[in-house]
Amino acid sequence: MTKSNNRESQYPIEPLFLDRWSPRAFTGEVIEEAALLSMLDAAHWAPSSANQQPWRFIYALKGSDDWDKFVALLVESNQEWAKNASALIFVVSKGFNGDISEGRKSYTHSFDAGTAWGYLALQAKLSGFYAHGMGGIEHDKIRQTFDIPEGYRVEAGIAVGRLADKSVLSERNREREFPSQRKPLSEVAFNGKFIAG
Ligand SMILES: Cc1cc2nc3c(=O)[nH]c(=O)nc-3n(C[C@H](O)[C@H](O)[C@H](O)COP(=O)(O)O)c2cc1C
Repeated sequence: MTKSNNRESQYPIEPLFLDRWSPRAFTGEVIEEAALLSMLDAAHWAPSSANQQPWRFIYALKGSDDWDKFVALLVESNQEWAKNASALIFVVSKGFNGDISEGRKSYTHSFDAGTAWGYLALQAKLSGFYAHGMGGIEHDKIRQTFDIPEGYRVEAGIAVGRLADKSVLSERNREREFPSQRKPLSEVAFNGKFIAG
């Protein structure tokens, strides 16, 4: 097993997987665009079905003219803390292969985009930042704001920032500002069978 960040795996793994977590307390400092592009570069080296690379990233940097517009596209409970991030990203995936007129739907576009987000989160940690995924985003407004056509799926948001002291958070968020645990591996990994639950 491996121990790190108040977490313990059941089998030996790289500490990086335990060290990555999703804080909400961010410093609100400005990030160099190149630092964010390193994370997005790592993300786009993710594997994908037939190397279709269906992930798309729309981003804004803290301090830019776009910042308030991006914050407003999060649900209120996420706005509260994510406004102090250094970058906000919306992940969109392309739901068809090739040209839309060819009508070849992709089965794996969301799965592939999820892999890319995972890579981004790991690169963020390696670069001294944290990435926090958000399902709580205004999907329809994002589609309208960025003119995202049919066939593309608005997947999730990501807040990227440097860790701050949890005193910057509301009481509710302060109480849940710690690295979470996981179910026992035996509840999710089955040798030769499937167990629903
Ligand atoms: C796709 C996705 C959506 C999430 N949505 C939200 C969200 O809207 N708001 C929030 O505060 N955290 C959100 N989270 C963070 C999860 O709650 C967190 O990843 C999970 O509890 C595991 O904790 P850890 O990332 O610290 O290991 C989301 C995470 C993912 C991957």
